[in-house]
Amino acid sequence: MAQGRFERWRARFDALLRPEGEATDARSLLLASLRATGYGAVGAAYGIIALYTLPLLLLTAVFAMLGVGRPLVAPMMQWVRIVAGLERRRLRWIGHEVESPYAEPIDEPPRTLREVRADPSARRDLLWVAAHATWGLVIGAVLLQLPFVAIHDVTYPVWWGLAATSDQEILNGLIEAETQTAATLGFATGIAAFVLWLLFAPKLLDLQAMPGARLLGPDREVDLSERVARLTATRAAALDAHAVELRRIERALHDGAQNRIVAVAVLIGAARREVSRAPERADEILERAQTTVESALAELRAVVRSILPPVLEDRGLAGALNALASDCPVPCTVQVDVEGRCPASVEATAYFVVAESLTNVAKHSRAEHASVMVLRRGNTLRVVVTDDGRGGADAESGSGLAGIRRRVEALDGTTEVKSPPGGPTEIRAELPCGS
Ligand SMILES: Nc1ncnc2c1ncn2[C@@H]1O[C@H](COP(=O)(O)OP(=O)(O)OP(=O)(O)O)[C@@H](O)[C@H]1O
Ligand SMILES: [Mg+2]
Repeated sequence: MAQGRFERWRARFDALLRPEGEATDARSLLLASLRATGYGAVGAAYGIIALYTLPLLLLTAVFAMLGVGRPLVAPMMQWVRIVAGLERRRLRWIGHEVESPYAEPIDEPPRTLREVRADPSARRDLLWVAAHATWGLVIGAVLLQLPFVAIHDVTYPVWWGLAATSDQEILNGLIEAETQTAATLGFATGIAAFVLWLLFAPKLLDLQAMPGARLLGPDREVDLSERVARLTATRAAALDAHAVELRRIERALHDGAQNRIVAVAVLIGAARREVSRAPERADEILERAQTTVESALAELRAVVRSILPPVLEDRGLAGALNALASDCPVPCTVQVDVEGRCPASVEATAYFVVAESLTNVAKHSRAEHASVMVLRRGNTLRVVVTDDGRGGADAESGSGLAGIRRRVEALDGTTEVKSPPGGPTEIRAELPCGS
């Protein structure tokens, strides 16, 4: 949930500062520079992490070469992957489409130096760590420094008299100001720093992002073959999901409606035989036949609904999810932030994820409260269902969670189940939904 809240704040920050169209007037220049400084600060923070990661990487490499550090390689490479993943996300926030070269969670990090050397994506991640720890951090520092210098220098004439002698300097320590007249110069240097910041902050952000944009995407050569492998896997999952779906429909028709219609045929046969002998008995049998037909109809209707819920068509995703939540015996809040409609297959999958998760909440969780959150950010539809119940959801022990995973994978999406014993439980699915 914390991440969801962070994402909401970030989106608000972004929406507040995103200038409309090209930055030409002063206001949009200011907004663009503020935005660039915010994202530059995040980049600088990652730069600091990268800087601390570098010596650890060196140590791991040295120990591994000496033959004692092998167990360290995989965790270190996993750490690099996490940091690179954070940077990928930041790059996407600022408009670089950088796709991860890894097929999580199938791709294990390399476990030996030889594997690192053989894995182009891992090598590129490492190069990025070195580049971002130096270039990225320095550019980030300049980007952050400029507005501070501007404020410091512009206000300097006012508080020069109060400053300790050691602080009597302007333009970031470049010019000593020993007299009040010299201090007044601060006003000019402050304005200069402000103008530099205003004009160059977005460019500095671009410069900071450059190594990541070049290195963190998939290597072109590997890209295609990996993409083919991934598509083959997801196509198999799609076919699988379809086969499972067909089997479910076939079972539902076979065990439900078909059985009942057979019973109706038998009942009608019996009624015909009784018509001349005992008409009142025939009437009784026909009545039973009628009830059975009605329940067969109800079952057919349920099967048809489960194929593509008509409520989705009629009321859209938000309406359909609200209907699901209101049917759930555990009190459930729904928050849907999706502009326009997503492709039908994506909406149906999101609906299925929520339906199965809420059924599980009702069946297993003993929760007092559940929540459903669906957000669309760019080309991703994120579905998160949480409950404050006892946790311990396990995809191995039933077919529901495995079904969620299969359906989501069939659309090239990812699923994550977090459910420590004692709770809470969070089921999160991310579905790519075109543009
Ligand atoms: N929200 C939850 N809270 C606690 N436990 C859960 C929750 N969801 C699932 N579980 C546990 O995880 C197991 C697997 O769930 P899954 O949905 O895959 O199967 P199921 O609900 O038992 O059966 P099916 O969905 O196939 O009818 C459940 O048996 C249950 O023990
Ligand atoms: Mg279930």
